Amino acid sequence: MRLIVAGLAALAITTTALASGNPAAERQALMKNVGAATKAGAAMAKGEVDFDAVTAQLVLRTMNNAGLAFGYMFPEGSETGEKTEAKPEIWSDRVGFDKLVNKFVADTSATVTDLDSFKAAFGAATENCGTCHKAYRVKTN
Ligand code: HEC
Repeated sequence: MRLIVAGLAALAITTTALASGNPAAERQALMKNVGAATKAGAAMAKGEVDFDAVTAQLVLRTMNNAGLAFGYMFPEGSETGEKTEAKPEIWSDRVGFDKLVNKFVADTSATVTDLDSFKAAFGAATENCGTCHKAYRVKTN
């Protein structure tokens, strides 16, 4: 468990270091963090690893932090580059995109105390992935 916590903390630090004026790379780094958090959270939700309140909260916090910053990482001019998978609809339908970003932030803001509350929060949080990817991310696989 400590390894997962250390890993997530390291990822968070990497993201900060990446704040380098390259929004496409920054948003991809944020989503990589979200992917890592989701992997750690899924293992706990499925009972593959024991519930740990600190890790559980860190999983949600990592997603929430990413969500809070994500909306700012699509300025005009960042529609291409870094092999971005961002769909043009992010720029042509910013209201719709922002709505999903805000929903993701809201759905990742829970405080969890036990496995049941974590499962509920994690389930709600991860429903957002596919919804947003379908509408605003180019499917590459
Ligand atoms: C509000 C929209 C939105 C939500 C919610 C969202 N994503 Fe994403 N995600 C994107 C977009 C847009 C990209 C493509 C970014 C780019 O390539 O510039 C992306 C890319 C990714 C990537 C690839 C990162 C890389 O470049 O290596 C992963 C992994 C990922 N998302 C995982 C997740 C998971 C897991 C969740 C749910 C817990 C999630 N995302 C929720 C919009 C979203």
